[in-house]
Amino acid sequence: MAFWNRKKPDVPAAGEELDRTQLPQHVGIIMDGNGRWAKKRGLPRTAGHAAGAETFRTIAYYCRDIGIPYLTVYAFSTENWKRPVEEVATIMDLLHKYLLEVLEKMERDGFRVHFFGNLEPLPPALRDLCLRAEETAASLSGKRHQVNICLNYGGRDEILRAAQAWGRDLLAGRQTVEDLTDEAFSRYLDSRGMPDPDLIIRPSGELRLSNFLTWQSAYAEFYFTDVLWPDFTPQVLDEALAAFQRRQRRFGGV
Ligand code: IPE
Ligand code: IPE
Ligand code: MG
Repeated sequence: MAFWNRKKPDVPAAGEELDRTQLPQHVGIIMDGNGRWAKKRGLPRTAGHAAGAETFRTIAYYCRDIGIPYLTVYAFSTENWKRPVEEVATIMDLLHKYLLEVLEKMERDGFRVHFFGNLEPLPPALRDLCLRAEETAASLSGKRHQVNICLNYGGRDEILRAAQAWGRDLLAGRQTVEDLTDEAFSRYLDSRGMPDPDLIIRPSGELRLSNFLTWQSAYAEFYFTDVLWPDFTPQVLDEALAAFQRRQRRFGGV
């Protein structure tokens, strides 16, 4: 049995009908609704981001415990720089503080943490922290639960960065035009070597992808819920997983 299937879930499942042997291999989550959650409570939006960070921790460990090998979360998009500078600065500070705290624990607890997105424009201290985490991830051996955190990530930006890298390899004679296949191009994406997401979840009632995993979501199943991200629980995830298991995936076949 695979390493990640061994541990029993420590949170009671809401969906009794959930088939633990038919779980998605890769779940993507757009962690949305932090601001509205805070507003409802008369709190500053940043309090919502702090609460959302706690939800991330709970859900990451739950995914590990029930045996979902890959989790990709959307934390900050290439469009989120449009927000007021104070909100962006607070999000970056929160991310730094929070990542500093969780990265080491997550590595100890059997995770491998990766970052998707262009880390260049991030505040230098945060970028260094992400790069250190990437180095650690590369050095960790054995099968681990993979968590990908999308930071300054945009699906279109990812495809463009991949196209630039491929173009450089073409000019250097390491690639040929004829050899460019779906699979070959995928190796230039942030998600190289990983399966595409089977299930993408968006809380907070918005019905859009907002530039999340544009390439990889081609055949993903989608689950939308009105629950705001800080209120998202393992039970809500179970509902999404149960809905996923009721879907019939055809991938263009019959
Ligand atoms: C998601 O929550 C977090 C980020 C985009 C950084 P929002 O901040 O978008 O919360 P709402 O959508 O305004 O409620
Ligand atoms: C998407 O949420 C990005 C993240 C959750 C990080 P947004 O709140 O930025 O998306 P829009 O603006 O509603 O499309
Ligand atoms: Mg939002």
